[in-house]
Amino acid sequence: MANTREVKTTGFMGWIDKRLPVTQMWEDHLSKYYAPNNFNFWYFFGSLAMLVLVNQLLTGIWLTMHYKSDAAQAFGVVEYIMRDVPWGWLIRYLHTTGASAFFIVVYLHMYRGLMYGSYKKPRELIWVFGMLIYVALMAEAFMGYVLPWGNMSYWGAKVITQLFGVIPVIGDTLLEWIRGDYVVSDATLNRFFALHVVAVPLVLLVLVLMHIAALHQVGSNNPDGIEIKENKDENGIPKDGIPFHPYYSVKDIFGVAVFLLIFLGVVFLNPQFGGLFLEHDNYTIANPGVTPEHIKPVWYFTPFYAMLKAVPDPLGGMILMFGAIIMLFTLPWVDRSEVKSIRYRLLPFKLALAAFVISFLVLGWLGMQSGSTVQKYMAIVCTAVYFLYFPFLFFYTKNEKHKPIPKRLTH
Ligand code: HEM
Repeated sequence: MANTREVKTTGFMGWIDKRLPVTQMWEDHLSKYYAPNNFNFWYFFGSLAMLVLVNQLLTGIWLTMHYKSDAAQAFGVVEYIMRDVPWGWLIRYLHTTGASAFFIVVYLHMYRGLMYGSYKKPRELIWVFGMLIYVALMAEAFMGYVLPWGNMSYWGAKVITQLFGVIPVIGDTLLEWIRGDYVVSDATLNRFFALHVVAVPLVLLVLVLMHIAALHQVGSNNPDGIEIKENKDENGIPKDGIPFHPYYSVKDIFGVAVFLLIFLGVVFLNPQFGGLFLEHDNYTIANPGVTPEHIKPVWYFTPFYAMLKAVPDPLGGMILMFGAIIMLFTLPWVDRSEVKSIRYRLLPFKLALAAFVISFLVLGWLGMQSGSTVQKYMAIVCTAVYFLYFPFLFFYTKNEKHKPIPKRLTH
């Protein structure tokens, strides 16, 4: 975009600004970027997701300095990092706890979007980039989990890659292409390492940049779901807006402090988190001859894993699992309501959203269980509730009645 606004700086900054629009960027995205003045607790999680991303990148780089992506050495080298590398245990626990923290933060961030209709016009692209980030994050976490080459790494990789084998016609070829071998092996470990350390982080970084660029193009939504740009003063500044810096930069630092308190508490006091963040079965080395008694993924995948297991047919299960993610992409077009925020929507929407979230949480729990007959039926019911949210929203929002929407933000 052409630099149309004149930025008056002198001296060293003037010299830089003539060559690189640093001050202009600072103003456009921070000190003169006007954000709604009513952000609440739910607006902490975007900046926290960025913080966790930086933590994962930095600790990941340091882990890579010591790790060896060799099936004969990987398990041992992780133990070596934990015991012999100075501070290696801390770097690894920051990375493993960071993985779970990433999903906690991102799930809360997504839930905020559902509550306040942040995916709706004009923020469809922010949502789509967000969903692409979510998919990339899942791929990143899945491949990272294979790297310590524990027994659950091995069997998890085997079960999940096998899914691609059930695709008609191309399944077998695709499976071999993904694994780089007829079975999960050293070749699989090596390519997962390359993808986990280089390819997917790059994709993630680009997607996050696009996510923020799309956000700054239209401006943030807020808990009232009212567009602040529709109410500007004589200088063209939104009446209900405040500069992001210093107001929200300072507020976000408070969020970061509280987050770090909890996060570091887990890192130092309970990094395995009862087997949820680091699974007990992964403390034995990969063994193709010994299947773990109960193969299950890490907690953040279990809702989808429960859907996979909800039907006996593997192809059907796979369609359900991937379908559940694809449906989320469609939300901006499925929700046709003129009102964004849950604050001004009526009971049917609130009940439907609650049912959707509860079914997702129950599926998450079911995905960790061994799967009794009752649990299998529960998984079918919860999967149905999850999918029904979308057609419900589509038909309900055609002529949705709602509470009166104020013209200006409320506090
Ligand atoms: C690495 C992961 C992510 C990062 C670093 C990130 C970062 C951010 C930041 C900094 C904001 C502005 C602050 C805020 O509103 O909290 C934001 C807004 C937003 N994000 Fe994300 N995000 C991530 C993942 C996602 C995902 C997975 C989704 C949904 C699928 C999503 C959807 C949104 C939406 C809809 C907004 C606008 C919210 C509003 O204005 O009310 N983001 N994101």
